[in-house]
Amino acid sequence: MAAIDQQERLKHLAAAKAMEFIESGMVLGLGEGSTTLLAVRRLGALLADGELRDIVGVPASPRMAREARALGIPLTTLEEQPCIDLTIDGADEVDPQLDLIKGGGGALLREKIIARATCRELIIVDDSKLVPRLGSRWAIPVEVVPFGYSTRLAWLRSLGSGPALRMRDGQPFRSDNGNFIVDCNFGPLKDAAGLAQQIKAETGIVEHGLFLGLATDVIVAGADGIRHLQATRRPDQKQGRVQDG
Ligand code: A5P
Repeated sequence: MAAIDQQERLKHLAAAKAMEFIESGMVLGLGEGSTTLLAVRRLGALLADGELRDIVGVPASPRMAREARALGIPLTTLEEQPCIDLTIDGADEVDPQLDLIKGGGGALLREKIIARATCRELIIVDDSKLVPRLGSRWAIPVEVVPFGYSTRLAWLRSLGSGPALRMRDGQPFRSDNGNFIVDCNFGPLKDAAGLAQQIKAETGIVEHGLFLGLATDVIVAGADGIRHLQATRRPDQKQGRVQDG
């Protein structure tokens, strides 16, 4: 119980820190998950207080859209605003290169579309999400079309993963796009990029939860304080990382 309270506290700290990155007039991507939700609530409060203004949000899920609307955060779409200034989102795992596993909430496809349209992808996590290698603790969520899904499950098994169809209330979980999610446990990955390419190329697979080279900034809240990790990335180079406290 105490550990859960501590994790909740750290999520609040990460969400609060994210507010420092927002400027009035920005187009903001609003991701999914419990940490992002805390950030969205803080954003709503800053708008209500007049500390921020002229913000429009692009939500990654209907749930976040509902929350944002209730908080008075104006919303838009990628059709109206194809270039997002800053996206705030959570993650299930973060490795030392700031590559991620996402999709614990099943919103990976829209989260990735938003991440690809954003200038600055800010990931907010507590330090339990840091791993030496992706796949250390979390299975990779893979979004598959329902038609013939059992053949996709078999194919994912043939790659060496232990695939499990995600269930909710005794039924296959449906993503916001109407698809199924298969959680694939590969264990710690030696070649995340190779696996990502292989999965993406397969027919019937819509998207996977490996977010490689997409995060520009990660806020990590831990017992010893908050760290801001930044990807140092050039288009032709895999990113490294610098730390600024
Ligand atoms: C949603 O699909 C996910 O990608 C979340 O961003 C991720 O699961 C992190 O969620 P929490 O902030 O709830 O841990």
